[in-house]
Amino acid sequence: MKLQNDLILRAAKGEDIERYPVWLMRQAGRILPEYRAVRESVSGFKELVETPALAAEVTIQPVDILGVDAAIIFSDILVVPEAMNVPYQMIEKRGPWFEHTIRSEEEAKRLEFDFDIEDRLGYVLEAIKLTVKQLDGRVPVIGFAGAPWTILCYMVEGHGSKTFSEARKLLYTNPTLAHQLLQHVTDVTIAYLKAQVKAGASMIQVFDSWAGILGTEQYATFSLPYLSQIASAIEDVPVTLFSKGAITSIPALAKLDCNTIGLDWNMDVAAMRALVGNSKTLQGNLDPCALYGSHQSIELETIKMLNSFGNNQRHIVNLGHGVYPDVDPEKVKTFIKTVKSYETK
Ligand code: CP3
Repeated sequence: MKLQNDLILRAAKGEDIERYPVWLMRQAGRILPEYRAVRESVSGFKELVETPALAAEVTIQPVDILGVDAAIIFSDILVVPEAMNVPYQMIEKRGPWFEHTIRSEEEAKRLEFDFDIEDRLGYVLEAIKLTVKQLDGRVPVIGFAGAPWTILCYMVEGHGSKTFSEARKLLYTNPTLAHQLLQHVTDVTIAYLKAQVKAGASMIQVFDSWAGILGTEQYATFSLPYLSQIASAIEDVPVTLFSKGAITSIPALAKLDCNTIGLDWNMDVAAMRALVGNSKTLQGNLDPCALYGSHQSIELETIKMLNSFGNNQRHIVNLGHGVYPDVDPEKVKTFIKTVKSYETK
């Protein structure tokens, strides 16, 4: 299908752009009253994720309402451990919760990794196909998955955590098991992302949300080799790697076979550009809290960020992490409007 707006794909590939493309992590979600209305019509988050027509509907909402340059498929990174026989529940106001954790060889026996993606994750593929069809070429669809390290965090810990100390403990007490688990997650993730591309995703983002809790050496041992396999395996569409908090690993990430590196708001754009060079696109990185400021302050902060790009075209504008659910959508619109009216040379 011919895309009417392929700005984000051109920016990812380092081609000419007439302005910077913009989208927001977590744009399909609770910030929009229209999302909350759909969400209230179902029994819970998982029903929404598993019903392709509704997932497609909420995926498209931010394109219609906010005017973003890409849609990201409405799903969750936790559908992968679930497909591997480690199911999760999404508990209201508390987040994900897993009945079974994987902390030992014995517990690892329940893991399944030799299955057909279509069988267990067909609902995501169906949602992508429907979204692509309904968007009719207006903007590209971004597919995604969690990085193996971040998925391991949830499988081992069994719930959210500030430190994921059970997951980090495993890296010291049984590194062999940790590597085996990471490899299984990697294999499933590669098959899953390839299936997303086949279903119509024009771009892929890998979320390593818990990158920042590992030291540089641990990150090089337990995350980068698996990210590298994933980035190299996805051949037909641009790949973004977002390793939140992994500031000291940016030079190592820049060596991987990806097009774009995601930056969080702690990362100085000019400093990261100096580390990465010009062969990659950078994505980010306004502080999500900037959107609590006045419209005028949002405009100022956004322009400050855009100026920090120094006229380099290899940028995709985003926040430094997902948009917070209680941000006023009008404030998000100001952010997007500011990006769209900023002139790139
Ligand atoms: O708009 C989009 O970005 C697409 C949808 C999307 C969701 N989750 C929907 C969601 C994406 C890309 C994700 C990724 C995801 N999920 C990550 C990586 C990105 C990040 O934020 O670091 C992680 C770590 C998860 C796991 C997860 N899902 C947690 C910890 C939680 C609970 C916290 C929360 O925000 O409520 C979720 C729930 C979740 N995933 C919601 C949404 C819209 C909120 C639940 C709801 O609407 O009821």
